[in-house]
Amino acid sequence: MRSSVARLIRSSSASPSRLSGNAFFGNATPSDQRHIEKPFKVKEAEPVNVTKPSPHKLLVLGGSGFVGSHVCKEALDKGLVVSSLNRSGKPSLNEPWADKVIWNQGNLLEPASLKDAMDNVSAVVSCVGGFGSNSFMYKINGTANINAIRAAAEKGVKRFVYVSAADFGLVNYLLQGYYEGKRASEAELLSKFTYGGVILRPGFIHGTRRVGSVKIPLGLVGSPMQMVLQNIKPLTRLPLIGPLLTPPVSAASVGKVAVRAATDPVFPPGIVDVYGIMRYSEQN
Ligand SMILES: NC(=O)c1ccc[n+]([C@@H]2O[C@H](COP(=O)([O-])OP(=O)(O)OC[C@H]3O[C@@H](n4cnc5c(N)ncnc54)[C@H](OP(=O)(O)O)[C@@H]3O)[C@@H](O)[C@H]2O)c1
Repeated sequence: MRSSVARLIRSSSASPSRLSGNAFFGNATPSDQRHIEKPFKVKEAEPVNVTKPSPHKLLVLGGSGFVGSHVCKEALDKGLVVSSLNRSGKPSLNEPWADKVIWNQGNLLEPASLKDAMDNVSAVVSCVGGFGSNSFMYKINGTANINAIRAAAEKGVKRFVYVSAADFGLVNYLLQGYYEGKRASEAELLSKFTYGGVILRPGFIHGTRRVGSVKIPLGLVGSPMQMVLQNIKPLTRLPLIGPLLTPPVSAASVGKVAVRAATDPVFPPGIVDVYGIMRYSEQN
């Protein structure tokens, strides 16, 4: 103990120049010291070519439809590169957003026709679905979307958002093919996109629907209904009639949440019900 104190005192009495060398290298040899005393030569940094990360490319299946067009507009507003795939390709719309979308012609029921559209795509939002006979409804809500989910998984797409539909109690029996198709697609999505699959389940969607050149303002009915029904959630648990009281949501809200779910890596995978859609759509 006493000898180490003595060593400490001896070293603190050393000359300042000697101290500075030993302070970093302890028992450095004289040749080390010569090396240290040389002035540092700072090499000039070489310019490095940093490639800018490419923006998300979002593929909207059914981008020309009622919900799909809102998804496209929201994604463009967020600065994403947006492409769409639908059977008729570019719609005859005189709206500026439509010129900014890359339109592909393809049919989800013909899987070969959608492979190229999936190239370099980071996320897909599917807004393809419809009504008709039970077998047609199963095909368009089920088979068509299952084809798209499989093609996206094969191409290594990171996230997939499927616009599905809320249960409507008794209505489910009347539209059996529709709901069976929706649930089959959901099951496929959850198995192929365990961490990046999001299912939106809206009830009635309101907004301005375009039928040919006519615009139908569904919001005139939908918005007041939403105001009333969003506050009576417990009643939706009533047997038979409960699900009919599911509040409607706007197409703009569905579009906003779909784009966030497709691009935000921490958006939780799984099912988002009507109340979840309303909640997420109110966030910035
Ligand atoms: N509207 C609502 O109130 C509501 C409520 C709950 C859930 N949803 C669901 O939301 C989704 C979108 O509904 P929406 O009202 O927007 O439908 P929509 O207006 O009829 O749009 C359907 C879109 O899908 C495309 N499409 C249809 N069949 C296709 C196929 N075989 N291959 C590729 N594209 C195809 C259509 O374009 P082409 O005809 O050019 O192919 C169109 O762009 C559907 O899944 C629907 O079930 C809607």
